[in-house]
Amino acid sequence: MSERAGPSSHEWFWHADVVQAVSPPGVLDLGPGYLEPGLLPVDLLRDGYARGLAEYGAAALAYGNNAGALPLREVLAERVSAADGVPCGPDRVLVTAGTSYALHLIATTEAVAGRAVFVDETSYDFGRRIFTDHGLRTCEVPSDSLGMDPQALRDAIRRELAAGREPGFTYLTPTFHNPTGRLVGTDRRRELLAVAAEFGVLVVEDDAYAELDLDGGPLPPSMGGLAGYRGVIRLGTFSKTIGPGLRLGWLVADPAVVDRFASRGLLVSGGSANHVTSLAVEGLIRGGEYDRHLTWLRTALRARRDALVTAVRTHLGDRVEFEPPRGGFFAWLAFPGDAEPALLAAAGRADVRVAAGSRFGSAPNAVRLAYSLNPPSSITTAVSRFAAALPVPAHQSIRS
Ligand SMILES: Cc1ncc(COP(=O)(O)O)c(C=O)c1O
Repeated sequence: MSERAGPSSHEWFWHADVVQAVSPPGVLDLGPGYLEPGLLPVDLLRDGYARGLAEYGAAALAYGNNAGALPLREVLAERVSAADGVPCGPDRVLVTAGTSYALHLIATTEAVAGRAVFVDETSYDFGRRIFTDHGLRTCEVPSDSLGMDPQALRDAIRRELAAGREPGFTYLTPTFHNPTGRLVGTDRRRELLAVAAEFGVLVVEDDAYAELDLDGGPLPPSMGGLAGYRGVIRLGTFSKTIGPGLRLGWLVADPAVVDRFASRGLLVSGGSANHVTSLAVEGLIRGGEYDRHLTWLRTALRARRDALVTAVRTHLGDRVEFEPPRGGFFAWLAFPGDAEPALLAAAGRADVRVAAGSRFGSAPNAVRLAYSLNPPSSITTAVSRFAAALPVPAHQSIRS
């Protein structure tokens, strides 16, 4: 199967006046959580838009239904029911312009300024930014190797209540977490849901990477599914599976929550977040092309993930704490002895870009490496160059 999805003739548009970020020339960029340009399926989308416009005609160019076009909500609800094993109807689904838009809706609708959002001690930096943009406070909750610590969440909520403040909500990415790549197991999911339910605190489950299980086999049920979507809003996106330029995602929640969002001025004024694209993607899902693309993409990402895991084991060995990720885009490297400035300086000397751990919270000795943006050979080279540029650990520099 081909290693490219998109045609290469458009590569010269890949500059900062057109796209959000461009890697510096000569640098091997393991920093951002982007798909490599060649993995973005241009031809697939061209077909999807052509079919959507042919099928829906003028209705594709009208303001879309405020909650999102019913055909897309129906097909998403069917997928959610199949994955969760609990019935889900389209009345539980709202189409969004990606997860960022959903986080904005939640931050402005489900909490008021000053309230605390309980986040993992390392968690998606721009998610935190959306919360703090709206005057919410992020409250880092300690984790152990299984995920956010339920007792620590209970304590954090109690502290807010004791200070006379209503808690906001809990934000989690239990499946292929950004930045750590961690997959939270079923028991821990249930425990965290139980703590949230004890205090009536909403759980926001950001499932941006849920469709990128690279090893197969059963995944833990979603937190939304475990809770029957009571007290949980679960977020999905096509940014990580088709392309972020689509600006298309969805959320699954209690029907009353969907109605509340759909009646916000933003949607009453503009209609569905991304109507034409919804109809293009709905056809790709119904026609089976989306699932075939997912299979292809997982194969491509698996080769990149495997290259990274092999390179880390070969070149960094026991210098790093590292759990090979089962899915998503990211690996997390914690260096017991090395502080972040030394790690970043080494990356700079090696002409490799990494994401600093401190971007995501309290992680002074770690970096996040994305395996989504480069082919396997570049990933291998990047890790070996980074490892060679790191300071030699003290115990190895002393000659016996
Ligand atoms: C955990 C997480 N949530 C949300 C997003 C943003 O998703 P979207 O493009 O759908 O807004 C990202 C992208 O990096 C992410 O890692």
